[in-house]
Amino acid sequence: MKKFSILDIQRLKHEGRKITMLTAYDVQIARILDSCGVDMLLVGDSLGNVVLGFENTLPVSMDDMVRHTQAVVRGRTRAFVVADMPFMSYQASCEDALRNAGRLVKEAGAEAVKVEGGVNAAPAIRAIAQADIPVMAHIGLTPQSVHRMGGFRVQGREEQQRQKLVADAMAVEEAGAFSVVLECMPADLAAEITQRIAIPTIGIGAGPGCDGQVLVINDVLGLSGPFRPKFVKQYVQLEDIIGKAAGEYINEVRSGIFPGDEHIMK
Ligand code: KIV
Repeated sequence: MKKFSILDIQRLKHEGRKITMLTAYDVQIARILDSCGVDMLLVGDSLGNVVLGFENTLPVSMDDMVRHTQAVVRGRTRAFVVADMPFMSYQASCEDALRNAGRLVKEAGAEAVKVEGGVNAAPAIRAIAQADIPVMAHIGLTPQSVHRMGGFRVQGREEQQRQKLVADAMAVEEAGAFSVVLECMPADLAAEITQRIAIPTIGIGAGPGCDGQVLVINDVLGLSGPFRPKFVKQYVQLEDIIGKAAGEYINEVRSGIFPGDEHIMK
């Protein structure tokens, strides 16, 4: 299967075809999603809450991101792998940003990195892009800014915020980002941004007017607990399926049905 590249992502936008992206954190899920033909795999720092059990993404470290990106890279053959830059890996200086982006490409095998922020993140995006590391920006609801935002809430409902988000989108494009995630904003604003910039927009909770869509894989699979944001579509309820399988195993071990004759080494 032909490897999907940054050129294919740009081509899809120009041809008006939708770009697909899902998160992945481990080799098996990466292998399955890759074989289904997803265009991009995002090793999101949602790793923190989705996989590691933290309340938010802030505790995720560079070592966490390197380890999980390595696993995802081992599982894919075609998809383009983007790795998140975790909180405080790029905010303090452009040198930090460049060094840490370099680790994700060199040690972990990512093909691009993702940075949260608009105008404020433009210097870091520029520094990384100038080293020929493709950067995906991320504006709107940026989970690393949870304390500034006062929680996870829709961004860009007021006129002033709308103008700020348009300015953010233009700033990240100008700084050299190859694409931008638009998270949790009114659909008409996301559609306007998509029209006004040349780089592909990837929406999550931003409506159908974006060039592509991304979702957290655990939300898609019904593996993220009872809270489900309105913008998520859950395609299967794996929690029930896993619970049923594990329950059967426990009963069979307790009652002596497992292991049966066919599972015994001779
Ligand atoms: O970390 C993540 O999973 C993300 C997506 C929600 C876009 O940033």
